[in-house]
This record gives sequence, structure tokens and C-alpha cells, in this order.
Amino acid sequence: MKVGVLTGGGDCPGLNAVIRAVVRKGVQEQGHSFVGFRDGWRGPLENDTTPLGVDEVRGILPRGGTILGSSRTNPFAIENGVERIKDNLAAQGCDALVAIGGEDTLGVATQLAELGVKVVGVPKTIDNDLSGTDFTFGFDTAVNIATEAIDRLHTTAESHHRVLVVEVMGRHAGWIALHAGLAGGANIILIPERPFDIDTVCAQVESRFATHFSPIVVVSEGAVPADGTGMTLHSGEKDAFGHVRLGGIGDRLASEIEHRTGQESRAVVLGHVQRGGTPTAFDRWLATRFGLHAIQAVHEGDFGTMMALRGTDIVRVPLAEGTGELKLVSPELYEEAEVLFG
Ligand code: F6P
Repeated sequence: MKVGVLTGGGDCPGLNAVIRAVVRKGVQEQGHSFVGFRDGWRGPLENDTTPLGVDEVRGILPRGGTILGSSRTNPFAIENGVERIKDNLAAQGCDALVAIGGEDTLGVATQLAELGVKVVGVPKTIDNDLSGTDFTFGFDTAVNIATEAIDRLHTTAESHHRVLVVEVMGRHAGWIALHAGLAGGANIILIPERPFDIDTVCAQVESRFATHFSPIVVVSEGAVPADGTGMTLHSGEKDAFGHVRLGGIGDRLASEIEHRTGQESRAVVLGHVQRGGTPTAFDRWLATRFGLHAIQAVHEGDFGTMMALRGTDIVRVPLAEGTGELKLVSPELYEEAEVLFG
């Protein structure tokens, strides 16, 4: 079989580990050949390919980013996008496709599978918000980077008696904020699932100073103030999937806290640092196993499926199940952490 591989959406540590596992097992054990499509769905849409064999995947296991490139191209937002993809797959002689991506990339894969494209999905996102799988690779790396940042910021916060607000990624779900906040001993964690009350945040800041310690506030980029609390946010431009480009809540929050409490407050936005560089051992392990299982699914002709981690097992779930609904932080999980706030 000739199999196409693509990586779409935000880059994520572990993408190269998946590509390597797919190709190594596919070539060496199953006798398949591969072609890489560049930049997510843009590749099959524009027939932009790159050779992909064992030589091309040597040495890439620990490398961040993706050797195939990525984009947020949405073929369903482009005229004749689906027909062009089908034609280009046929022109390449591609019998099947491995799509590695998050909610948007796999959402497209789900729709294409329903239209007859033979596709298998591998879930990736540092946000960890895909349902159907316990974890996505990239998340553990992002949490470790954010935790190290919080550890380092504690010393400046204490030395200067400042509030330090750390903005982490997480558009719809607060998994990075919750895990890194707990691991780093943050005093307040704000997530998209639970709109915050700025008065409560300020009271927690003041109670922390009252014990002669300085507060660290971890906030997801998608966190929002509760209605009627007097804080407003700016909205930015949208991408091809209709998502607003986020970023800015950290600065807004720091100035609001300083204004309301009189305590000096600074914001640190971790941004793409969280997605960069080498994956942790856990993410390499998970990405490699996802890749090995994905090419096995292709080999068996089990299309329209997505690889998922359940406990320590890799299982296959229907793509629609993995992308139908976002996995959010439950109120119970958030309340468990809340006892440590302030
Ligand atoms: O989907 C992963 C993610 O890192 C989100 O946490 C974040 O909102 C988004 O990508 C940022 O995307 P971009 O790098 O395209 O601005």
C-alpha cells in the first residue's frame, strides 16, 4: 500500500516520533511505502508532497516540531476542497492517509472518512482536550515547561513582593493550567471552564500577601471573567476554523489586580515556548505507540478510526467519537484544586 502522512494544526512535541514509528513499522514490517504531505491539509489540497522513507525519519525521534510542516488549512472552507484532495490522493497513488492532528485536523478527517477517504487519525494537542483518549502527546511536555516556569517565577515573586500572573495555552480547556498550576504550587488557577470573579481573585491575592508570601496566578489563555464582574476582553482575528487568536488575558488580569489591590503585578506569557523543543520521555513513548498502532490500523483496513490511550492501552475509537466533543476539566476536578487557592 502507498500511505500518505500529514500533520495539521499547532505543532506539538512528539509529532516526529509518530511519523517515525508509522514509517519504520510500515516499511520494515509491513512492506508499505509512504509520501509526506506538506503543511497539514494544504498538502493534499495542493498536491504538495515530500519523500518519506526510513532515511527521512532517521534521528527525528527527539526533535520538536514536524518534519512535514503544519498549517490550519480547512479544505471544507475552500471551494472544491474535498474533490481536490480526492483527486490528488488518486494522482499520488495513495491508498490511505494517516492524519495527525487535533480537533480541527481530525474533524476534517472525520468528515473525509464519511465521504469515503481511507483515513486513520492520531490525536495530538498540547491542550489535551480531545475526548476518547486519556492523554494526547505534547501535553506532558507543555505541562513540564509551564511547571519549570512557575518554579522559577516563585523566587522573583517572593524577592520583589509582586503578583506574578503566568498565562499558559488552553483555548477551551484548562488542562495545562490545572496540571502545571498544581505541580508548581500556584495560588490561583483560572481556566476557561470556570469564568472567574475578579473580586475573589483579588481577595485570594491579598490573603496570600497577608501570610508574607507572594501570589502566583496561573491563567489559561481562554479564561474569561464571569458576567457582571466589570472586566472586559478584546477579541482578535479568526483562523480558517473560526477560532479567535487568543493571548492577552494575562496582561489584562495583572493590570486589573494591580489597580484593585495596589500590589505590583506582572504578567508572563509562555506562548509557543510550551509547544517548542524536545518531547518528554512520556510524550515520546505515547507518540511512538500511537504511530505503531495507527499503521497497524491502516494495514488491517480499519479506516475512520482514531488511536486513543485508555489507561496504559492503546485502543481504536471511531474518529467521530474522538472529535465530537471536547474533553473539559470537570467542576469536581477544579474544586479539588481550589482548596489550595489563596
Ligand atoms: O491547539 C493548540 C494551541 O497551542 C492552543 O493552545 C492555542 O490556542 C493555539 O494552538 C495557538 O495557535 P497558533 O500557534 O496558531 O496561534
